[in-house]
Amino acid sequence: MITQQIKSAIRDIPDFPKPGIIFKDITPILKDPVLCENIVNAFVEQLKGKRIDVIAGIESRGFLFGLTLATKLGVPFVPIRKAGKLPFTIKQKAYKLEYGTAIIECHIDAFEPGQHVLIHDDLLATGGTVTAASELIKEMGCEIAGFCFVVELGFLEGRQRIAPISDTLVVLAEY
Ligand code: PRP
Ligand code: MG
Repeated sequence: MITQQIKSAIRDIPDFPKPGIIFKDITPILKDPVLCENIVNAFVEQLKGKRIDVIAGIESRGFLFGLTLATKLGVPFVPIRKAGKLPFTIKQKAYKLEYGTAIIECHIDAFEPGQHVLIHDDLLATGGTVTAASELIKEMGCEIAGFCFVVELGFLEGRQRIAPISDTLVVLAEY
């Protein structure tokens, strides 16, 4: 049911950000507070029984549900940001994109060693971003508790890429 609600709300934008890409626009979901609440509740339900000490959300769309999920679970939220945005001392990780490289960062005091960190983002595509986030978080001495996403683009095989990192994967709507 939640899957259908999400798919009904998502708007396909052809040729964005470049020709040939059909962009999954989640902004209509954000206009529906009941659906937003249902999404967070579905994550909580499907993650029941897992040890989760922290939610790490990936900039920028991973912040939208990440903080709400952390608040609902009663655990800290850590923003994993793109380069140059965090003001305190940072730790960073570079990773490959289709063209060039990207960098993600967190504050050096964002995590305590030994914490079990659940990584959240709005969408799983190639899995490159969350793989880099996993490496960054593991270098901080933490365990990866798992992943949760609102949407998965299955044809990009991100699921296969992140499977060796954790077998906990929650996806609410798959394309
Ligand atoms: C999108 C999406 C994920 C990531 C998925 O973010 O929100 O974060 O790409 O791609 P991957 O699985 O291939 O790594 P984007 O970089 O467009 O930035 P935004 O969230 O700030 O809009
Ligand atoms: Mg993103």
